[in-house]
Amino acid sequence: MDENKILIVEDQDAMRESLVIAFRDEGYQVEGVASGEEAIQKLSNDVYDLIITDLKMKKVDGLEVLKAAKTANTASEVVLITAYGTISTAVQAIRDGAYDYVTKPFRHHEILKVAKKAIEKKNLKDRVKYLEGEIRDKYRFEGVVSNSNAMLEVLKVTAHVCHTDSTVLITGESGTGKELIARAIHYNSPRKDAPFVVINCGALPENLQESELFGHVRGSFTGAIKDKVGLFQHAQKGTILLDEIGETLPSTQVKLLRFLQDGEIRPVGGNKPIYVDTRIIAATNENLEKAVESGRFRKDLFYRINVIRVHLPSLRERREDIPLLIDYFLKKFSDKLEKANKTFSKEAMHVLANYDWPGNIRELQNVVERVVALSKNEIIGVDELPIPVEELAALNKKPFEQEKKKSFIVTTLAEQEKNAIIDALNKYGGNQTKVAQTLGISTTTLWRKIKKYRIKPQHEISDDVGN
Ligand SMILES: Nc1ncnc2c1ncn2[C@@H]1O[C@H](COP(=O)(O)OP(=O)(O)OP(=O)(O)O)[C@@H](O)[C@H]1O
Ligand SMILES: [Mg+2]
Repeated sequence: MDENKILIVEDQDAMRESLVIAFRDEGYQVEGVASGEEAIQKLSNDVYDLIITDLKMKKVDGLEVLKAAKTANTASEVVLITAYGTISTAVQAIRDGAYDYVTKPFRHHEILKVAKKAIEKKNLKDRVKYLEGEIRDKYRFEGVVSNSNAMLEVLKVTAHVCHTDSTVLITGESGTGKELIARAIHYNSPRKDAPFVVINCGALPENLQESELFGHVRGSFTGAIKDKVGLFQHAQKGTILLDEIGETLPSTQVKLLRFLQDGEIRPVGGNKPIYVDTRIIAATNENLEKAVESGRFRKDLFYRINVIRVHLPSLRERREDIPLLIDYFLKKFSDKLEKANKTFSKEAMHVLANYDWPGNIRELQNVVERVVALSKNEIIGVDELPIPVEELAALNKKPFEQEKKKSFIVTTLAEQEKNAIIDALNKYGGNQTKVAQTLGISTTTLWRKIKKYRIKPQHEISDDVGN
């Protein structure tokens, strides 16, 4: 059995020694110290599962030991020993994270019982932490930085589809990492030694779309001076990423459907089918369901492609990842540009964490790269952020005030929100329900914002539903 380690902090020698013996007899690994100073010293060098500390001690007291224990890397559990008159302090200590307290005088079996429970809690916490780490490791892909729960779900699905040949549809706003995930799937699949071919369907001239994908035979159209092998064949035994799949022409869609049904392609002008073994991953930042509804995209093809769906959340939906990505890109570009490692000031980090990142991770990456390249300072300040200030100012429709530059993003976005609410309130004569509906927020959120921005009612604010 892994012995649990306990530190006993007690300035009365007899008491400390008897506790050490009692816990040792129970099979714990125990150390005793006679002062808070010694305890804090120990905590900086060693790891304990449980700390049992007297509350009242000279100089450094039990509360300070508690604080040190809670700020140490491995948060130990803490049980306090209190005298009758200090119970209120002990209660406060529990609010600060102590597990429990025992009041003097106590019998050994009482403190042993509390200690046992505290250790059980600590062991459980350790186990959860370990399992969480295991799950994250299991679904970690090289080059994909993330620690958010939203992305963990994405990575779980990604990990599963690596082992299959299923067609995958990756959706998400521009710059959210669709291509990165497609690559991760290919390079972690049995196809990894064959080519990974990326084609942006939206970037192909219409008249060349079919020929690029499926090839053509000589003479099939003007300019087809020799046979051409299409990208599907180039990706033989590998994976083809059809980016912006929604941009494919109806004739291309028919050919894709045939491939997905029978595994065969037909080069333009050719009459013999060619069988290729290529896995399709499709990506899009548009709403394919809408394209199907409007008749721009074949329904049957949509069903064939939409077998497994991976949706990448926008960066604003997983802000926890922002600091992690910033660290990653800072290091990446400092290395690449051979610059000393830089960091952002606290204020700059605040602005970056609150910005909306319409261009998602690509935009964040570009911001960090530019700053690393241009800044001469080791700590990058808010003034050096290259986020398009003019654009935000234009959005805000107001002349941009120089003195607001320090927190331009936060101010501007908040102001936009406030103005939208005021406009809507004016438009609907203060009808809160209508305003909330128009802005797509709940009435509670609306109220919170009205309060937050201290919006004075021009009209009587009402929640008249029937109005
Ligand atoms: N989780 C991530 N960790 C590290 N880098 C990332 C992550 N997600 C995206 N990136 C980087 O951000 C950039 C944009 O990603 P990618 O090209 O995959 O996005 P996309 O969704 O395909 O965008 P678009 O719709 O514009 O084609 C790439 O340089 C990619 O390496
Ligand atoms: Mg892309």
